[in-house]
Amino acid sequence: MERSLVIIKPDGTVRRRVSALVLEALLDRGYKICAFREMRVPESLAKLHYAVHKEKPFFPWLVDFISSAPVLSMIFEGDNVIQGVRDALGATFVQKADPTSLRGKYGIWAGVNIAHASDAPETAVKEIELWTSKGGLKESSDAEKQARTYIKQYSSGDADYTIEIRNVVKNAIESRDASNDVLQSLIHFLEKDSMGISPEEINALASAIFDFVKEEVEKI
Ligand code: RTP
Ligand code: MG
Repeated sequence: MERSLVIIKPDGTVRRRVSALVLEALLDRGYKICAFREMRVPESLAKLHYAVHKEKPFFPWLVDFISSAPVLSMIFEGDNVIQGVRDALGATFVQKADPTSLRGKYGIWAGVNIAHASDAPETAVKEIELWTSKGGLKESSDAEKQARTYIKQYSSGDADYTIEIRNVVKNAIESRDASNDVLQSLIHFLEKDSMGISPEEINALASAIFDFVKEEVEKI
């Protein structure tokens, strides 16, 4: 049976209801969940996980982003789970993702795209080995229950500030505004539905998104 390492990244997990809805949508596809862990990603693990991208210009940013605030790390199992999860997520870049896909619905901007999923059977095996040996991810018969408890705890209500956060980023880039007000607006919307996430983690995630905005503003 095929397995995939799936991570709801900080921009998902900090937005509690969004992460619960993404998780629910993935589980609704009928996969078994064999491991579930909410955790902060140490920089060392982030670098190993993204080693394939280490020569890319966005590598340092990617490491900062994934280690900024908690993630949900998980092992999914099922027929064709690798491609199935990637199909459900949609294209890597949020603006290119189909609006009905999970990244199209909840992704923030470009690579701030709510989730990671293994891209091939060999990568999945390597990633699962890495996250179990260095990330404390453990297979457990309780994993399904933990995931369902997470969904139940956070999916109610109507909190979803995706549009507001996208607009902050979009307006900042379009008006070439990389002022502190932009960072404060990101913090404002990111903390609205962030139960159990510390102010320091919200700031770190907002700063990672803001770094991206600054880079875009300088580019134009
Ligand atoms: P993932 O690994 O997160 O499941 O996504 P993927 O296979 O679709 O994308 P990949 O090429 O493996 O890139 C890994 C993550 O790096 C960020 N990224 N930023 N040019 C850029 O700024 C850029 N390109 C990629 C994204 O967060 C992407 O998910
Ligand atoms: Mg990838």
